[in-house]
Amino acid sequence: MKLPEPCGPVSRRVGEALRAEERGRCHVVLPDEPVLTDRDVQLALWTVYELSYRGFDDVDPAAESDPDVVRIRGVIEHRFEQELRQETRTRLAGVPDRDDVADQLLTLVRQEDGPKLSSYLRREATLEEMRDYLRERSVQQLRESDPQSFLLPRLEGAAKVALAELQYDEYGAGRPERLHQTLYAEALAAVGLDDRYAAYVGEISGTALASANVMSLFALNRRGLAAGLGHFAVFEASSVVPSRRIASGIERLELPAAVATYFLEHVEADAVHEQVAARDVCGPYVADHPDQREAVLFGAACALHLDELSGRELLARWAAAAEVAS
Ligand SMILES: [Fe+2]
Ligand SMILES: [Fe+2]
Repeated sequence: MKLPEPCGPVSRRVGEALRAEERGRCHVVLPDEPVLTDRDVQLALWTVYELSYRGFDDVDPAAESDPDVVRIRGVIEHRFEQELRQETRTRLAGVPDRDDVADQLLTLVRQEDGPKLSSYLRREATLEEMRDYLRERSVQQLRESDPQSFLLPRLEGAAKVALAELQYDEYGAGRPERLHQTLYAEALAAVGLDDRYAAYVGEISGTALASANVMSLFALNRRGLAAGLGHFAVFEASSVVPSRRIASGIERLELPAAVATYFLEHVEADAVHEQVAARDVCGPYVADHPDQREAVLFGAACALHLDELSGRELLARWAAAAEVAS
């Protein structure tokens, strides 16, 4: 994979820093406006994070720890995290007062009443809208579970065992053809989309990039461990119902079976995973680190916030396109 094309000043500066053309002189100036859904800033951050996953053919692997690159990453992360804290404040104020962090997490998910993207996909979405949805999520789903693997070495005991068990499932439970990343790639290919890793990174929205980046923010920084666990629990717990609806939308559109397979797999698997992630990963972790409860809930709220933003954005985009067409 090659470095993505820049789409603004920040991603351009990052590209320059990574090509070592400007090392030592490179700094980024962030816009005054929020960066949470800013495509340019989120693409820059995604690019820097990618150095810790699969990297780029045209970037020296040593760039991952280049002081300039590390500094730029820190500057963007600082703003990103600040905005996430601000945006999740109201949601966090509504966290039910329970002893059991798993109950808090699962209740947080259940009390969501945001736009029902999955209901729309089930009943009304056109083929083009379904493809748009699959493309929008592709960058994050083609490396599904990889961010969470960085959490494992930072855990101990029961939480570590439970997360490893979950990851085993996500990584295909011993069967390469069941690797969830592969199932998603097959879904993309079956609707005629490009199934290569990050093929659409230059096309998806800033919000979709932020949804991928937030996982790396928590996974690639050890200080993000607790938030990463909370995020993961919500990610699993908010998958079962939408996956069922999306699978039925795919059937309504009479798309090939391979498109629904990914979602059907998650209807079954995530019913178990949500319990394991909340009760067996976050539960023992918070029992051992009571001071980390707030951080776990913050990560959870971040997942819900970005999910809501993304849902709202897609529905608005399709409504606007339908208006133009009519
Ligand atoms: Fe999965
Ligand atoms: Fe899962």
